[in-house]
Amino acid sequence: MRPAWTRREGASSPRRARAAATTTAALALVAAPLAAATTAGAAEPRVDNPFAGATQYVNEYWSANVEAAAGRAGGDLGDAMLSIADEPTSVWMDRISAIEGNADGPGLRTHLDAALAQKQGDTPLVFNLVIYDLPGRDCYALASNGELPATAEGMERYETEYIDAIAAILDDPAYEDLRIVATIEPDSLPNLVTNSSEPLCQTAAPYYRQGVAYALDRLYDVGNVYSYIDAAHAGWLGWPNNAQPAAQLFADVVGSTEAGFDSVAGFVTNTANSTPLVEPFLQDENFGSGGFVRQAGFYEWNPDFDETDWTAHLYDLLVAEGFPSSIGMLIDTSRNGWGGPDRPTAESTSTDLNTYVNESRVDRRTHRGAWCNPAGAGIGERPQVSPAGYPESHLDAFVWVKPPGESDGSSEEIPNDEGKHFDRMCDPTFNSPKLSGLLTGALPDAPLSGKWFEAQFRMLVTNAYPAIGDGGTNPDPDDTTAPSVPQDVAASADGTTVEVTWSPSTDDTRVTGYQVSRDGEDVGSVSGTVTSFTDEGLAENTRYSYTVTARDAAGNVSAASAPAQVTTGEGGEEPPAGACTAVYSTANSWSGGYQGQILVTAGADGAPGWEVTAPAGLSTTNLWGGTLSGGVITGQSWNADLAPGATATVGFVADGTPPADGELACG
Ligand code: BGC
Repeated sequence: MRPAWTRREGASSPRRARAAATTTAALALVAAPLAAATTAGAAEPRVDNPFAGATQYVNEYWSANVEAAAGRAGGDLGDAMLSIADEPTSVWMDRISAIEGNADGPGLRTHLDAALAQKQGDTPLVFNLVIYDLPGRDCYALASNGELPATAEGMERYETEYIDAIAAILDDPAYEDLRIVATIEPDSLPNLVTNSSEPLCQTAAPYYRQGVAYALDRLYDVGNVYSYIDAAHAGWLGWPNNAQPAAQLFADVVGSTEAGFDSVAGFVTNTANSTPLVEPFLQDENFGSGGFVRQAGFYEWNPDFDETDWTAHLYDLLVAEGFPSSIGMLIDTSRNGWGGPDRPTAESTSTDLNTYVNESRVDRRTHRGAWCNPAGAGIGERPQVSPAGYPESHLDAFVWVKPPGESDGSSEEIPNDEGKHFDRMCDPTFNSPKLSGLLTGALPDAPLSGKWFEAQFRMLVTNAYPAIGDGGTNPDPDDTTAPSVPQDVAASADGTTVEVTWSPSTDDTRVTGYQVSRDGEDVGSVSGTVTSFTDEGLAENTRYSYTVTARDAAGNVSAASAPAQVTTGEGGEEPPAGACTAVYSTANSWSGGYQGQILVTAGADGAPGWEVTAPAGLSTTNLWGGTLSGGVITGQSWNADLAPGATATVGFVADGTPPADGELACG
C-alpha cells in the first residue's frame, strides 16, 4: 500500500513539514466548518477535519534520534530509517517541566516556533500535542506513573501549573494560525471503565474526570485547538460490556464541559499500543461447532479484532450517546505493523479454533493485554489523512502519537525523578497474571518510558508493515543471499538448564531472528535483538550439542554456527524437604510506599494450595500472582498448586515502609 504522503525534496535542513496528499477527498473536507466555530484568538474557523489539506509538524528532536540510529545501522536498514525521519510525530507534555523544556527535549514554545518555521505559506499546519499529566496518572500500571498525586493539591497543580500554563502558550496570537491537535490523557478514562476495582484507579477517578473536563475547557477556549480524547484500543474496550460504559463515560465527561460536545473534535485509539489496524485473515464469523471466532482464547469473546473494528463500533456508540456525527477518529499506527518474517501470509486451514486463530492472526503478542515494548512489532501505516477504505470508522487520520523508538517502560528497576516505577509487564521473564499467566513478550534491556530505545527502533523498522524501503528490510523475494553465520556460540549448564549465547550480527543488519538447535532439532527461536536462549528441563549428566542459525525478513537462513557442546549436571538443586519455602525481597521503595515480591518454592512434598504468612501489617494497593486475605497470601488458579521444586512469584505495591528481606512461613 502506498502512503498518502508525498515526499518533499530538501526536507531535512531546514526541515519542512510533511505535506498531506492533495486528494479531492481530503480537500473536500476542509471547507466544512463546525456550527459553533469561531472563538477568541482563532484566525480560521474550526474545520471538520484539521488534518485535511494541512501539513504536519515534524519534531526535529525525534528526527535527530532517528538519523543518529540510521548512521549507526548503515546499509539498507539505515536507509529505511532515514526515509521515515521526517514523518510527523506527537510532542508529549509528559510533566510540568516539559512545558519549559527539560533533559528530554525543548519546551513547548520552541516546538511551536519550529512549527511556524515549517509552515509553508497559507497551507495550514497541524501540530500534534499530547496532554499527559493527570493526578495519579497510569493508575493500573507503574511504568508511566506521574509526578502529581491523586489529591486535591495534585489537581490544583494540574490545573494551574500544567493545563493553564500550556493553554497560555497556545493562546499566544503568534500561534493562532497553527491547528493544534491535542490527544487528551492516554489511558485515563479507559482505566475508569475497566479498572475501577483497583484502589489506585478508584482514588484517581474524580481527578481524571475533573482533569479531562478542565483540559477540554481551557483548550477549547484557545480557539485553534482540536481535542481528541484517548479511547484505548480494540483489545481493551472492544467487549460490548466495556464499550458501552466507555461511550457513556465519554459523553458524561464531555457533557460536563462548558462547550459540551463541541469541546472535542473526536477520539484517538491505539495510542502507544500495537493492536493491528486490520486482521486481514480473521472475521468474527461462525466457526462450526467451536462457536464464533471471537471465542478463541486470544480474543476472549471480544468481537473487535482490530482498530478498524473498534473505531467503527465506538463511533456508533458515541453518536448514540449524543455526540455529533461530525466527530472523527484518529488511530495511532506508529507501532501496529506486525510485518517481518513471522507475519502469516494466508488464513490458517486448521479446524481447531485456537490453532486457526493463532496461525491466522498478524498480532503476534502472547496476549492482547501485553502493552510494553512488544517483541516482533513493526511500524504501521505511515501518517495519512482521511484514509480510504474504512468509511464506518470515520477516520480523520492515521497518526504517530507514540514516537517509534521511545520505550514504554524499563525492563528492570531504574531510579528516576519522574515518578515512574518498574512495571513487570515490561520484564520479558515475567508471567503476568494480567495476561492469564503468559509471558509479557516485552523486549529486554529497555530504558524508562519515553527514553530512546534503539534496539526497539531497529526492530520496528525491520518489521514495518507496510514495509519501509526497498532494501534489506523489505527484501527482494528473489534475493536468496543467506545472512551471515552467528559467531561465538557458547553453551553453559546449570544443573539441567543450559544457557546458549552468541554474538549479535552487527555486521549484517538484515538479521531479524535466530533459531537454536539441540542435537540437530530446533528447540526455539528469538528475535534479532536477543542473543541468548535458555533450554530447560534437560536430562541429567548428558552431553548436548547446540548450533544457531540467523534468518532475515525474506526467510533466508544462514548456515549453522560452529557447535557448542555442554554436559548437564545433577538435575539442579534438590527441592528442600517439606511443603514449601517463601522468601520476601523488596524490589523498589519510595517515600510512603514500596514494591515487593515473594518467591514461593515447593519442597519435596509439593505444595498444592500453598499459603504464605504475609509480612506483618502488609497493606497492598496492587497485588499480582496471588490473593491476600486475613494476613495470608494464597496462589491463583494457575499457580496455586506447585509440583516439587516449582516456583511461584507474588508481587505487590504496598503502602508504608518495606519489611526486611527474608523468609516467611509457608505451608
Ligand atoms: C511516557 C512519556 C513519554 C511518552 C512518549 C510515555 O509512555 O510515560 O514520558 O513522553 O511515552 O514516548
